[in-house]
Parts: sequence; C-alpha cells; structure tokens
Amino acid sequence: MVDENGSIRTLSVDIGGSGVKAMVLDITGTPLTERARVDTPSPAKPDVVINAIAVLAAAQGEFHRASVGFPGVVRSGVTETAVNLHPSWIGFDLAKELSQRLNKPVRVINDADMQGMGAIAGKGVELVITLGTGFGSALFVDGKLVPNMEMGHHQFRKEQTYEEQLGRAALEKYGAKKWNRRLEKAIASLQHLFNYDYLYIGGGEAVKVNLQLPLNVKLIPNVTGLLGGIALWRD
Ligand code: BGC
Repeated sequence: MVDENGSIRTLSVDIGGSGVKAMVLDITGTPLTERARVDTPSPAKPDVVINAIAVLAAAQGEFHRASVGFPGVVRSGVTETAVNLHPSWIGFDLAKELSQRLNKPVRVINDADMQGMGAIAGKGVELVITLGTGFGSALFVDGKLVPNMEMGHHQFRKEQTYEEQLGRAALEKYGAKKWNRRLEKAIASLQHLFNYDYLYIGGGEAVKVNLQLPLNVKLIPNVTGLLGGIALWRD
C-alpha cells in the first residue's frame, strides 16, 4: 500500500455545510496536492455528498486511504447527527459506504475533532472551536481527544446556543461587529469553564475575527481541518 517512494498517501476530506474540501497528505501529514473544493450539494444527502467526494478524489491522484471530517457526531464511522446537512445522515455508515465507493480504507470523525488534531501541541488542556456554517468544538487533554463534544448546540446566552449566536447565519444577519462582540463573550465564558492552556479558533469564518485576542488564544487557518486527517491513522 505504498507509492513509488515507499510512502502511504492519505486523502483527507473535510465535509462542511457549504463546501467539501480535499487534499492528499504524505505519511508525516505534509500536503502533496493543492486543496480542492466543491460546493456542498443541496439537499446534502449521503449519496450526492459521496459523489462529490468521489469527484474530488479522482482529481487528487494516487492515494491509499482516506480520512473524513464530518460535521456531526460520528461513532465507529456511523454518522449520528447532521444538523447542517440532512436528516438522512442519521445512522448512515459513512466509513463503510465511502470505503466501498473509493475502494480504499476510510476513517471518519467529527470535523472539529479532525481540525483539532491538526492544530494542537499535545500538552495540557487544549480547546478548539470552529466558526463556519456551524459551530464546532473539540477538547484535548495532553493530546488525547474527548470525542464528539457538541458545544455548538449547547446553550450560550439569551436562550440561544453557541451555533445560533455565532454560526454563519448569525454572522450574516447581525454583521461582523456584533458577531465579534459575541465571540469575545464566548471566549471569556469558555476560559472560565475549561481553564484551557490554549484555545484555537478555526473554520471558514475565522478570518472575520477582529479582536484583541488573549495570548493563549490562536487563530488557525481553515486548511488545518484537512491537515488533521493524518492523525486518524496513528495507532
Ligand atoms: C455540528 C458539529 C460540527 C459543527 C461544525 C455543528 O452543527 O453539530 O458536529 O462539528 O457544526 O461543522
């Protein structure tokens, strides 16, 4: 299962509410291809999203296995929630179905968990939030993931969840200034709750963050969502 250089190539896929992204990583997690993106099909049902991944995969050249970040709770490759995609994902065996389609081994985890794996230092309490269509979250203790932490649908303020206050719909409705003020409150609240060593903020809308961030809060580029894909095979 190796290429001509003796190296395993991993196709890393990030399924988002608005775009599906992919690139190939080498065994160390270094990108070997340009990141490619297609719009997430609408309605985003499993068969059409799998087709979109297959199209992206075909354009990425050789790979031996695939890692997928999925925007919902994932247990043993099965997707259990998909608030920003389609209800037909509930109970869908994405790892199995995509593996059959690509004819390669496939591992699937939550998108924010995968993003976090690409971002963390592996020491202490590290929290990751992602700002995109939805609000993603991932918690790590000395590099070990607490899987499927769904902060996005947890109550934040004014009877609304983090995702209702800070998801893309809220950003578009209320504008970047108000959204940044809300984010500042969220950061303060999360610092009190988790006493994290580091907080990383990623996702497609992280570029709109315009705040004086505390020293232990870092913005991470959206490509981190794909770079984390290599960590799924570290066992
Ligand atoms: C989902 C999370 C996901 C996040 C970011 C939320 O709506 O429930 O599982 O990580 O969006 O995509």
